[in-house]
Amino acid sequence: MFSDIIAIFFILHVPCLALSFDHPVSSSWFKARAEAVEFLDGYPWTPAAIISNVSRSPCPMLNTFSNHGFLPRNGRNITKEDFNEAQVQALHMSIDLANKTTNAMIAKLGSPRNTSASFDLEDFAAHDATDHDASLTRLDVIQGSSIDVNPGLVQFLLDDSADDWIDTLSIGRSRARREAESIAIGSPKLSTSFTRFAQLEASFIVLIFGDLNGNDTDTWRASKDQVRHWLNYERFPVEQGYARSSDSRTAEQQECIISSIENYHNQFVSMYET
Ligand SMILES: *[C@@H]1O[C@H](CO)[C@@H](O)[C@H](O)[C@H]1NC(C)=O
Ligand SMILES: *[C@@H]1O[C@H](CO)[C@@H](O)[C@H](O)[C@H]1NC(C)=O
Ligand SMILES: *[C@@H]1O[C@H](CO)[C@@H](O)[C@H](O)[C@H]1NC(C)=O
Ligand SMILES: *[C@@H]1O[C@H](CO)[C@@H](O)[C@H](O)[C@H]1NC(C)=O
Ligand SMILES: *[C@@H]1O[C@H](CO)[C@@H](O)[C@H](O)[C@H]1NC(C)=O
Repeated sequence: MFSDIIAIFFILHVPCLALSFDHPVSSSWFKARAEAVEFLDGYPWTPAAIISNVSRSPCPMLNTFSNHGFLPRNGRNITKEDFNEAQVQALHMSIDLANKTTNAMIAKLGSPRNTSASFDLEDFAAHDATDHDASLTRLDVIQGSSIDVNPGLVQFLLDDSADDWIDTLSIGRSRARREAESIAIGSPKLSTSFTRFAQLEASFIVLIFGDLNGNDTDTWRASKDQVRHWLNYERFPVEQGYARSSDSRTAEQQECIISSIENYHNQFVSMYET
């Protein structure tokens, strides 16, 4: 809807430009903005709550894809190629990174489910296969739903940074905090393999919503306003200023983000130990 408004405004603005060049900055801003959100043209957000027999997962980005129609809106009968295409089209991921992510996600399902030709999003809620405790935004399995976002946990994730953005430092802190909270409520300690997988999952926040300026991963940061809106509504936060990256996002960038999160996570572990 926002993209339509911008598009209409831009179209209306063009004739003025032809008459006078008084506002070249604002017209190029509108043009850039229109291009940045045009990936959503034809992909309006519809909440899962009004789709019949809907299937959703513990992963906020997979749910977001279905809410916008980059994956089937009911979240069912999805192939590996569909997963790859959604990541490339909606997030501008490189095909290598998209395929790597799809393969990693499906491998976690284990045999024989990993050999399926297609998947429903709820398949990825299989506890101790793809789903794990100490999620940044979901309750532990002994507490309740691992599919529905918990807005209180989203707030705590944002509160781990004192500024208007979150980064690898605050996410490293959040990972250490959630693992300690999970043990405190009586869940088993997260395995080493899930500890690492959770760092990989969290890296997408910075990879997708971060401004990846310069080579210092520690300075890459994502707007809290955008992350809050995305996680709570599983919707692309274009009204909060989100634009799909114009450069393709790569596996190398993700590796850098994961290393930085892992480094800070390790530093925060002792702080949250009880
Ligand atoms: C919902 O979808 C599943 C998987 O395709 C199917 O087995 C089930 O029968 C459907 N339920 C309804 C009520 O349509
Ligand atoms: C799943 O999709 C395939 C093709 O993509 C189609 O042939 C099949 O009928 C679909 N199955 C269901 C249960 O909708
Ligand atoms: C995706 O990965 C699989 C498994 O490694 C490989 O067979 C396939 O060719 C890859 N597809 C693309 C598009 O890279
Ligand atoms: C499925 O998982 C099993 C066990 O982890 C593995 O040996 C097999 O190669 C996997 N197959 C596919 C297609 O991923
Ligand atoms: C980032 O690293 C690349 C390759 O090492 C280098 O060419 C580029 O100038 C660096 N950019 C910045 C902003 O430091």
